Formats: sequence, C-alpha cells, structure tokens
Amino acid sequence: METVALQEIGTAVGKEVEVRGWAYNVRSSGSIAFLQLRDGTGRIQAVVSKKEVDEASWAAATEATIESSVAVTGLVKAEPRSPTGFELQARSVTLLQKAEEYPIGKKEHGVDFLQEVRHLWLRTPRQEAIMRVRNEIEFALREFFYQRGFLLADSPIFTPNAVEGTSDLFEVQYFDRKAYLSQSGQLYQEATSAALGKTYCFGPTFRSEKSKTRRHLTEFWMLEAEASFMDWEQNMQLQEDMLVFVLRRVLDRRAEDLKLLERDTAPLRVAAEGKFPRVDYDDAVKQLHSLGSDIADDDDLGADDETILTKQYDRPVFIHHYPAVVKAFYMKPDAARPTRALCSDLLAPEGYGEISGGSQRIDDLALLEQRIREHQLPMEAFAWYRDLRRYGSVPHSGFGLGLERTVSWICGLEHVREAIPFARTLHRLEP
Ligand code: 4AD
Ligand code: MG
Repeated sequence: METVALQEIGTAVGKEVEVRGWAYNVRSSGSIAFLQLRDGTGRIQAVVSKKEVDEASWAAATEATIESSVAVTGLVKAEPRSPTGFELQARSVTLLQKAEEYPIGKKEHGVDFLQEVRHLWLRTPRQEAIMRVRNEIEFALREFFYQRGFLLADSPIFTPNAVEGTSDLFEVQYFDRKAYLSQSGQLYQEATSAALGKTYCFGPTFRSEKSKTRRHLTEFWMLEAEASFMDWEQNMQLQEDMLVFVLRRVLDRRAEDLKLLERDTAPLRVAAEGKFPRVDYDDAVKQLHSLGSDIADDDDLGADDETILTKQYDRPVFIHHYPAVVKAFYMKPDAARPTRALCSDLLAPEGYGEISGGSQRIDDLALLEQRIREHQLPMEAFAWYRDLRRYGSVPHSGFGLGLERTVSWICGLEHVREAIPFARTLHRLEP
C-alpha cells in the first residue's frame, strides 16, 4: 500500500493509503475513536470505527496517547467540515510507540517552560509554521543570489580576530592558542569577492550579547553579500531587491502559514512593492527630535529610536550616512563629509528595527591602517585583510542580513527566539 505525506493527501481521495506520524490529539467514545494525526507536512483526522477494524487496531487506537507515533491505513475521503478538507476512514492502526504523558498540554504554558521543552514545542502548529517560513526565506535568499550571479563562498567560523568590535566576542581554546567564534563573515567575503567578483556566505554567527532584548541572540544566522565595484547606493538597491524577492516568495508560497500565524499580510504586501525610502542620518535625527527622542548628536540609533522612526513609514527604510564614529572600522567615509560613513541600516517597519546593515568598505591601505589603530585593533591580525588593499584594491561594498530578525518581522513574532529551531540567548543553552 502506498504511504502518502499529508501535504499530498488531496491526490489520494478515494484510495486506501498509509499515513505515518504522530497522534497530536486522541479521543474515543463507545465504538468510535478519533486520532488526529500530523506527519510534519500536514494534519488529518483518522476515524476508527470498532466494527471496521480488527481487534489489534482497535486496541492500538484506544491506547494511543498524545504524541504516540502511529501508522494508520485507511480510505481517504474529502470532508468539507474538516479544517484540512480530508478525513481518513481507518482500516488498521499500528501503535509504533506509546508516548508517555506529554508535558505540553492544552492549557496555556509560559514561554519559559515552552523554551525548556523546545524539542517538543517545535511540534506545535505555530512553531511548524514559523519553521516553514524560515525555510522559505533561506531558500529564497539562496535562489536570489544564485540568480544574481553571486557565488556562495562560506566564511570560517573559527577566526583569529574581531570584525564588529571586541566587546562581544566568544573566545574559544584553539589547540594552544585563542580563537574567536565568528561575529561576521564579512572580512572573508571581501577576499572571496576579490577572487570571484560577487560572493555571499550564509551561516551562524556568534556574539556574546549580554543584552536581554527581543532582538538579540548569541548565535544567529546571517547572510552576508559582498561585491567588487559595487558602491554603497547599489548596495542598498541590492538589499531592497533581495527583500522584495523574499517577500514575494513567502507571500506566494507560505500564505497558509502566515494565516495560521495570524500575520496581517498588508504591510508585507506593501513592502513587496519595493521603493524603500532612503533617509540621511541627519534627517533621521531631526525627525526623531521632532518626535520627542532625546538622541544626541552623532549617536547611534537606539532600539527605541528605530521603533519611533519606522512607525513613520509604511515599508522598510534605509538610514544612511551614520556618523563614522559609531560604526565599524572598515566603513568608507564619504569624501564630501568625512565624519559620515557610506553605510546604511535597513530598518523593518512595525517596530521591528534593523534587519540588515551594510557599507562601502575602505579601499585605501593607509586609511584602513589608521582606522585599525584608532579602534585599537591588533594590526598583525589584519595582515591578510590589509593585503586586499595592496593587490588590486577596488571599490567594494556589502551587507549582512540577520535571518532571525527577518523571520520575526515577516512572521510578526514577539521575540527572535521563536525564529530559530533552538535559540541561544544570555540565559539559555538548552535544549
Ligand atoms: O549590523 P551587523 O553587526 O553587521 C555586520 O556584522 C556586518 N559585518 C555585516 C556585513 O556588512 N557583512 O549585523 C548584521 C545584522 C543586523 O542587521 C541584524 O539583523 C543581525 O545581523 N544581528 C543580530 N541578530 C540577532 N541577534 C544578534 N545579537 C544580532 N546582531 C546582529
Ligand atoms: Mg548593524
């Protein structure tokens, strides 16, 4: 007998098939039992009638507990009253493993508890939906860059030096010396893009963020793209095109999941039109002051500022030309306004804030070395990176998009911890 995945059950109407999965809900009364099944791809109710199955099957159906693993054969019927549209009229039920009393019940659980049982929490419809959206976003990102001729060139995770400041580095013992878990693959992308033209990496990055905010993880996934001869404005356009591609893909293919998440898709559809405003940092600060923020001159935008600012726009907005002093050492200053960097942050609407940051990079060796000294970074550790300015330096730019923040915004989540299968935060390393 054919085994079908529940996402394809519609093709099996009128046929006898086998479904394998878990019973997420069970009840029986008298001579009829209902097993609500999920297999990771979909859900269906199996109706087990005592008189239509053998004794062993009836025993299995009535013994099955929540999250027991089962195999059920039966006739697939269209069932308009069912939320999934189909029903399985069981012919046989096999109990593969009878689950112990399931810790996640029907009552409301606190997030702390759910995080402790994250390995089981992932089985709930809402978490499934988020993971499917995440998968769609990751896949769309890879496809976008493939179509644009970017090569995937993965950056290493063990690194000898810092990229984004030294305060939040995870230090690890690397044989007889110290190494750090990568904060960003960018420096390596500058090397690979000089070799291959346009490259990106997409992998985990690590920051020992002591902050307990809804935007911070200690391990998160970042897509980092870098292109030779791309300037900071083209860099913004690339990010906009990328996000538009991703949004359209998710709206198109994950509508069901967004619906389950009760995500209002109107703001996403607006963002999918592109045309993201570009706002100079100085204008953003003026706007913030008029909105009651006390942001100081030459200060970075805080999370609150980002929230206030993004509420003024109906789609993602680029803030560009931040003061160089609040940004990383590698950002190229604007020749016309040397205190400002040729950089941009992309802020998501609805209060989600920064999801992507990028810049044109310093391509002049002397200036780069000056910045390394000013930032009190170890000159020797950047020897290979400085080489890139010695051997055919070219103008180049790139950016990094935080995957979990993007997933959070698109799914409309409260906290990034739901946007990754197993979140790592200040107080959480398990499960
Ligand atoms: O702005 P960031 O620090 O930029 C860089 O690391 C650059 N080197 C990227 C580049 O130009 N290649 O980080 C980029 C993005 C942020 O916009 C944010 O979305 C995400 O990474 N991010 C985090 N996401 C979750 N938890 C954290 N602790 C994050 N820190 C940054
Ligand atoms: Mg940033």
